[in-house]
Amino acid sequence: MNWGILGAANIAQKALIPAIREAGSTVFAVAARDLQRARDYASHNQIEHALSYDELLAHPDIDIIYNPLPNSGHLPLTVKALEAGKHVLCEKPLTLNAAEVQTMMAAQQVSGKVVMEAFFYRFHPQIQRLLEIVRSGQLGELRTMRSAFTFTLGNPDDIRWDPRLGGGAFYDVGCYCVDIMRLVAGKAPVAVQAVAQFTESRVDHTTSALLDFGGFVGHLDASFAVPFEQFLTVVGAHGVVHLNAPFVSMGHNATLTLNGLPETFDEVNGYTQMVQHFERAARGEETVQYPLHLDSLDQARILDQVLKQVGYPGF
Ligand SMILES: NC(=O)c1ccc[n+]([C@@H]2O[C@H](COP(=O)([O-])OP(=O)(O)OC[C@H]3O[C@@H](n4cnc5c(N)ncnc54)[C@H](OP(=O)(O)O)[C@@H]3O)[C@@H](O)[C@H]2O)c1
Repeated sequence: MNWGILGAANIAQKALIPAIREAGSTVFAVAARDLQRARDYASHNQIEHALSYDELLAHPDIDIIYNPLPNSGHLPLTVKALEAGKHVLCEKPLTLNAAEVQTMMAAQQVSGKVVMEAFFYRFHPQIQRLLEIVRSGQLGELRTMRSAFTFTLGNPDDIRWDPRLGGGAFYDVGCYCVDIMRLVAGKAPVAVQAVAQFTESRVDHTTSALLDFGGFVGHLDASFAVPFEQFLTVVGAHGVVHLNAPFVSMGHNATLTLNGLPETFDEVNGYTQMVQHFERAARGEETVQYPLHLDSLDQARILDQVLKQVGYPGF
């Protein structure tokens, strides 16, 4: 299928463009606000067409738009792409809040096209194994979950420091911890408690939250202000499962440890698996595994509750 990349984004270059090609599809065009930037990016990444946003969305040869804009650009440009008759794979977090998810769902319904939030990590086989273990009951009743996703964000000009673009650690990396806990719990939390530390520009550089799933809790830490760390631990009455790299797929030797016994996985590119699934859904060969109305809306409602508690601008 022909893909159009909306924005000369770092993540597209690093992950999605290689994944689209590995899936056997074509990166047909890239668009940027500045045409020269689009041309430079196209030439660097061997992409045939460099366009404006409007040209990209209107191009009749493009089937799927990948939206890796700053978080504040996810809703408006995804809606535009749907109105132009394109399928859209949109970066996480899907929108800035749950009301925006509902607006996107309405646009999707009118268009009849496929939209999915690009949580690539879910497509790594370790996640299927994790869910198999939890659902088999071998951990016993769940008691607690712990997850962290942190790193040091050095570049002061990064989009993640700007509250107008939907910056902050919770939107950026905390959303992964919430998502994986929702997957494991199989439901939304009944209550949320959260605390954050903010920068002078009013984005959270560190957020900690407790998600109360009614009978067990999930504790998460998200930060831009400490060294890199990521993990998930799920503790039940009879067992513990631990993932040392739940949110990256390549080059991190993902290991799942069940009651002290490690299980390793072949190197699998979760981005490629996600792209392949999305293309099959766009062709109508399978239903989208994580539809907005069953998945992203619940996710956004939890993010809303945390952001409200910590006093993120606009909540
Ligand atoms: N799935 C993953 O593994 C993963 C990893 C990293 C990031 N992400 C997500 O991907 C998205 C982009 O992240 P990134 O690190 O790739 O970002 P990035 O390269 O810094 O920026 C992405 C694009 O945003 C546009 N942009 C930059 N500053 C802007 C501004 N002030 N106003 C409006 N648009 C602006 C630019 O578009 P132009 O090229 O048109 O100028 C840029 O190409 C985020 O939503 C992030 O959460 C996902």
